[in-house]
Amino acid sequence: MSKSKLNIDVIVDLQYGDCGKGKVAHFLSKTKKYTHVLRYNGGCNAGHTIFHKGVKFITHHIPAGVFFGVRSVIGSGCVVDPEQFFREIKMLNDGGVATKGKIFIARNAHVITNAHKAEDKKGGGKIGTTGRGNGPAYRDKYGRTGVRAEKVEQLEPYLVDLYKEWYSPRAKSRGEVNILAEGAQGFGLDIDWGDYPFVTSSHCTTAGALLNGLPATAIRDVWGVAKIYETYVGSKKFQPAGDVFNKMGDLGEEFGSTTGRRRQCNWMNMQTLERAINMNGVTHIVFNKVDVLRAVGEWAVIDNRKVVKFKTEKAMSDFIVKRLKSSGISRNHIFFSESKDKI
Ligand code: IMP
Ligand code: MG
Repeated sequence: MSKSKLNIDVIVDLQYGDCGKGKVAHFLSKTKKYTHVLRYNGGCNAGHTIFHKGVKFITHHIPAGVFFGVRSVIGSGCVVDPEQFFREIKMLNDGGVATKGKIFIARNAHVITNAHKAEDKKGGGKIGTTGRGNGPAYRDKYGRTGVRAEKVEQLEPYLVDLYKEWYSPRAKSRGEVNILAEGAQGFGLDIDWGDYPFVTSSHCTTAGALLNGLPATAIRDVWGVAKIYETYVGSKKFQPAGDVFNKMGDLGEEFGSTTGRRRQCNWMNMQTLERAINMNGVTHIVFNKVDVLRAVGEWAVIDNRKVVKFKTEKAMSDFIVKRLKSSGISRNHIFFSESKDKI
């Protein structure tokens, strides 16, 4: 097998999920020439809201490449619920998106079973899980009692060996394999770096992308995605007192796309952000939902545990840009987004 020229761009959520990775994945899939889009962690706990040609789609498993006919792979770092997988294919087809020969699952991805879902629905309340069987499926994977996708007959037509997928000449386009690696959840929910135990059970980091058979040297750009304010959905207390936070939730329509639960809101925390930027090697950053904060009409961040208020949007964005410079991110790699379907 000859060695392909491999390039990987990674999308990583810098906060608690729901920062708008789907939009960034959709944008990058449209504008760059990828041979593959890879979902690298998580299961159907994720919910990516994507506006495609004016139509809203919510995907849980299938990466955004499918909207552009790019090979879309659910990686070995993921856990897959076959029922949800087939529901999603149907939803895409019904919405006019062609999926035939475009969607793949790594043979060695693990399966979420009905027992996993039942267990999570019953016992996930302490953490506030999505009840989709994510935690039990990963526990069984690491306990070596899990079921791999290759053991499920219905999934057979979709299975790929990631070694062949990344390194065989067939996978190349003009001699290259260009992968967009799309993460799920976020750094604040990462199994190692999140606020344990209020975390998910997978690796939501740039490093998590590499666990899908990819070499570190192939990473090109790392797109960090953040929201201009923070949201979290789960059992710990997150939202401080104050009407402004309810206003964020209302105007931002902050309800989980998987479970419909109301998300708790807070100002963006600069230290959380900087930690996520550094640990994930972020080179480009998108701040989403600037239009929401504009509608809320107040501008602030948390810096060193204090709320720092700004008189104007410009004062806040200048502050952020200046701070990111010290993390090595230049102005032309920072995007303040104010639209559901554009960066
Ligand atoms: P689990 O991933 O379902 O086990 O849930 C663990 C924690 O991660 C809970 O706080 C969930 O609300 C949160 N979570 C899981 N997936 C997502 C997501 O895609 N967006 C936001 N939060 C999520
Ligand atoms: Mg989401």
